[in-house]
Parts: sequence; C-alpha cells; structure tokens
Amino acid sequence: MRRKVTVVGAGNVGATAAQEIARRDYADVVLVDIKEGLPQGKALDIDQAAAVLGYEPSIVGANGYDETEGSDVVVVTAGVPRTGDMSRDDLVTTNEGIVGSVTREAAERSPDAVLIVVSNPLDAMCHVAKNVSGWPRERVFGMAGILDTARFSTFIAWETGASVRDVTAMVLGGHGDQMVPVVSATTVGGVALRQLVSDERIEAMVERTRKGGGEIVKLLGTSAWYAPGAAAAQMVDAVVLDQKRLLPCTALLQGEYGIDDLYMGVPVKLGAGGIEEIVELELTDDERAALDASAAAVREVVSVLTA
Ligand code: NAI
Ligand code: 2OP
Repeated sequence: MRRKVTVVGAGNVGATAAQEIARRDYADVVLVDIKEGLPQGKALDIDQAAAVLGYEPSIVGANGYDETEGSDVVVVTAGVPRTGDMSRDDLVTTNEGIVGSVTREAAERSPDAVLIVVSNPLDAMCHVAKNVSGWPRERVFGMAGILDTARFSTFIAWETGASVRDVTAMVLGGHGDQMVPVVSATTVGGVALRQLVSDERIEAMVERTRKGGGEIVKLLGTSAWYAPGAAAAQMVDAVVLDQKRLLPCTALLQGEYGIDDLYMGVPVKLGAGGIEEIVELELTDDERAALDASAAAVREVVSVLTA
C-alpha cells in the first residue's frame, strides 16, 4: 500500500521537498498552503513531471486539511521569512502562530503521524509543534542538521579534492550561528579531517558552515531550498522506509548531552517510529563547551515563545 505524506507550505522548501518525495514513488503526497492556487498549481506541475521522470502522478494541492487525513508523515515548512522591518522576536512570534495553527490542523487529522518541522527559527518551532500536538518526542522533531552537515561536507570535499560521498561529518547544536561542526568525528575515506587539512582551513570551513544559510540569503535575497528540500525528503525516507538511518536531527533532549528540555540537533536513529534512539557522541572539551553555548542561544529564542 502506498503511504501518505503531507507537506504544509508550498513555497520554495515545501514544493522542493514535495517533488523529491513524489519522485521516490512510495507515497501519495498532499501539498497544503494558505495561498489559493499555489499548492494546486505546483502539485499539477509535479504530477506532469512524472510522465517525464517516471513516477506515479499522485500529488494533490489543497488549501485545507481534509485531504491530509491519515498521513504517515507531516512536514511543516509554512512560515514567513524575516524581512527588513521585522525583528527576530517578531519572526518568532509570527511563525509561532503559523506553526501552531498548522500543527493543530494536521495533528487532528493524522493523530499517529510523525511530524517533521522545517520552519524557522527551527529549534523554537519544534517546541511549538511539540506543545501544540502533545505528541511524544519520538514523533516530533526538526530538520536542520542534515542541511548543516551537507554544507560542511561540501566545503570539505572542495578543500580536500575528495568525493563528497567519502566525507563523513556531523553538525550538532541549534540551527544558528553557534551550531557545532564536530571536527573530531569528521573523516574523509576513514582518515581524520585533522590529518588532511590544517587547523586554520578547518576553522574557515567551520565558520562558513555556521554562516551557510546567511551566505545563500546574501546571494539570493531569500533562503535556500534545494538542499533543505532534499534534506527533509531524506528524513521522510528514513521514516517511511524504516531505514534506521543515523542522521543529525533536532530532537527534544531530556538529559542527553547534559541538556534538559530543549530541542537541539543531535545524531538520532530514524525509523518507522520516528526517533528510535538519541546517540551520544564523545565530544572534546571544546566541542562540549560549544554545544553548551549553542544551547544557551537556543534557550534565548525559545524564551520569546508566548506559550
Ligand atoms: P516560502 O516563503 O517560499 O514558503 C512558505 C510558505 O508558507 C508560503 O507559500 C506561505 O504561503 C505558506 N504559509 C504561510 N502561512 C501559512 C499557513 N498558516 N498555512 C499554510 N501555509 C502557510 O519560504 P521557504 O523558503 O519555503 O521557507 C519555509 C520555512 O523554512 C521558513 O521559515 C524558512 O526560514 C525555513 N527554512 C528552514 C530551513 C532549515 O534548515 N530548518 C532551511 C530553509 C528554510
Ligand atoms: C538555511 O539554513 C535559512 O535555515 C535556513 O538555509
């Protein structure tokens, strides 16, 4: 039986994720947005690409949630980007309202689903989705670490001249400038990154990764969507296909890494049940201090939430 995946928000990230998932051909996809015509038009376009690319045209667009009923996975990308006249706190409050309302609607119709949050500020929006749904932490988590790790891996591949397929890396922490690329766990073809690249060049790649989202915003005037959409689809794969992938995801920590009651990016095992395990990496003292600093930054954003 084909599975059902709902993507809320038919903007850049949502439509890209929906297309990636449709191309996998294992699920019917429902694309939801408040803008009339937008999800329907994008769904029709993705359906028509199926004849060329070779998957079943089974994505529908909707402005309501009836079509989402019984979804196995719900991906939330709805929200507004930060504009010039908006403070960060304004953004948190606006997206809190949006993520809260879409979570309520989707959770009501798919009470057994796994919820993957993408909307920013990511770590805080995971708290909103968790609070509103009331679901266990295993079924409410966020996408950021795969994207941040993909950025770090790309820079490492370019720096070393190796294939990106041979880079193994992991970026932890909040999805902000204080995220923590774990250099001690980074290898290229099994060789430690520190053996291949100077500390100075590693630091430059770490900094570029931390500012990776902003680098694209400066170029495009809006945030990235190809890599974020692909990253969200990879998480959907792991859940729908019960892959037991070990991926960096934003999970509610309850004591792991010495952090309590806070969503942060950590390695998790992802399968049919959602987060099936939180994996604790051995960190250096510097990496642990950086993770604590990242946690403090996330707590500051979370403190802006109204509920
Ligand atoms: P976008 O502006 O292209 O799309 C957002 C969509 O949400 C719009 O089509 C809008 O109509 C829709 N929307 C707004 N309120 C809604 C509601 N109440 N119900 C349903 N739909 C609603 O933005 P984009 O580029 O797709 O980004 C989406 C979100 O993902 C943003 O918050 C962005 O910051 C975040 N993001 C997060 C990343 C991560 O690593 N976690 C990476 C990239 C983006
Ligand atoms: C990104 O990292 C802005 O979260 C978005 O591209």
